[in-house]
Amino acid sequence: MTDSASTPPEFDLSLAEAAAWVGSGPEGIGETAFGPSEDERLEIEGDDPAAALRQTLGMFATGVTVITTREADQVHGMTANAFMSVSLEPPLVLISVDRRTKMCSLLYEGRRFAVSVLAADQRELSDRFAGRVSDGTPEPSFAIVHETPLVEGSAAQFVARVMRSHWGGDHSLFLGRVEYARFEEGARPLLFHGGQYRDLTPDS
Ligand SMILES: Cc1cc2nc3c(=O)[nH]c(=O)nc-3n(C[C@H](O)[C@H](O)[C@H](O)COP(=O)(O)O)c2cc1C
Repeated sequence: MTDSASTPPEFDLSLAEAAAWVGSGPEGIGETAFGPSEDERLEIEGDDPAAALRQTLGMFATGVTVITTREADQVHGMTANAFMSVSLEPPLVLISVDRRTKMCSLLYEGRRFAVSVLAADQRELSDRFAGRVSDGTPEPSFAIVHETPLVEGSAAQFVARVMRSHWGGDHSLFLGRVEYARFEEGARPLLFHGGQYRDLTPDS
């Protein structure tokens, strides 16, 4: 089975169809020939609405994860903070992946991916998997579980299988059914807030 054969139907669109569909996308998001209507306009302060929205969203503190998947014998990893728990029964998690990324092209229904929740001392790994490799960046090492690579030394690890994918504007949302989960007792997670890495202050 090829990747495209198992791609969810939402992606089975020609470019022309996709452009038309985005223009009339769910909830009126997307550009139309006449620009956004009054109802669609984003009310936000500042000269640059996109930057202001990013800054505002950045007030939501998150952890930092590395999403990994296997492509033939290669490991592909991507830093992501758009990760959330969805359900305990069945066990489901959600990731939001920019459609322009390589990771997005590798995920489809049935595909396994791993989520490694980074520990406080793994900032360089976060940068590496966000495409910012500098001299001295440590080489990641992986443990293979369910044929899926997990970042070693991380605070928590999940392996999930894509159940569904959903339209998410310039991102795609992948709902994964968790097949494996473990965490490191006492590990301190890496945090992200206001566009910067943060550390939990240890309890006094
Ligand atoms: C802290 C942090 C969080 C990020 N979160 C996400 C995310 O949730 N989704 C996403 O698509 N990209 C996210 N990115 C950007 C990707 O890591 C980056 O675009 C990466 O280079 C994509 O890799 P790829 O194209 O090789 O798959 C994040 C970057 C950083 C530094």
